[in-house]
Amino acid sequence: MASSIGWKCTGFLKAVTSGSFFLSTWGQFPRRGMGSVLDPAMRAYLEENTEVTSSGSLTPEIRLRLLTPRCKFWWERADLWPHGDPYWAIYWPGGQALSRYLLDNPDVVKGKSVLDLGSGCGATAIAAQMSGALRILANDIDPVAGMAITLNCELNHLSPFPILTKNMLNLKQDQWDLVVVGDMLYDEALADSLHGWLRKCVRTFGTQVLIGDPGRSPCSGHSIWRELHKVVEYSLPEATRQQNSGLTTSAVWDFQP
Ligand SMILES: C[S@@+](CC[C@H](N)C(=O)[O-])C[C@H]1O[C@@H](n2cnc3c(N)ncnc32)[C@H](O)[C@@H]1O
Repeated sequence: MASSIGWKCTGFLKAVTSGSFFLSTWGQFPRRGMGSVLDPAMRAYLEENTEVTSSGSLTPEIRLRLLTPRCKFWWERADLWPHGDPYWAIYWPGGQALSRYLLDNPDVVKGKSVLDLGSGCGATAIAAQMSGALRILANDIDPVAGMAITLNCELNHLSPFPILTKNMLNLKQDQWDLVVVGDMLYDEALADSLHGWLRKCVRTFGTQVLIGDPGRSPCSGHSIWRELHKVVEYSLPEATRQQNSGLTTSAVWDFQP
């Protein structure tokens, strides 16, 4: 029997704020390169179960396929969703702040190589492309996120950028001018690996690292916070506040280890 309690209440939003965040495994879908073609059945499934929206976020100029109250799985039992939890179907406060910042300050990305780590719906990578980044890689360990990012590039009439669905935190760092990380400080173990990996990026290559984060409680005492300097803070739109109970602002932080 379908429950009247949706994702919003039973599933991942609650899990994120409590810090018990299940991550799907990757593997069967390796790298999606530029111009890759989505499996038609998967495209149809994602299109059927998401809604195109540009409202309720800090970046109305970016259109995204997201899970909204008009989608079946907003209300459906979470375990009936046949893939890993669809974190890519939410535009998180951290990503919103980062994307807003990149759109308002194109000089931060113009002509630069940009890695969007934990890209989710891909909005921050899209903002980087709109602001003139030279080279972009969107990375997320969820292969379905890779497909959603491809759809979201199309929606915004952008030529697709490369998408990698490997766990880059297990790989040696490459040289990037800028690494952007939206809303990934929700789990201690992930924050630990992220911290070490990003520190190496900065120390080895002089990479600039910008983190978009609303300050979630599971990681509020993490040591990375001692090395984060606030660049800008945004008041969250009402719709985002409602989805992220208790959060009213989100900020962009400069990581200086
Ligand atoms: C809370 S969502 C944030 C998505 C997006 N940055 C935003 O702010 O809207 C976190 C994302 O990080 C991804 N993720 C978790 N661990 C990861 C890892 N080790 N490498 C890359 N992505 C990861 C998840 O699949 C998820 O899409």
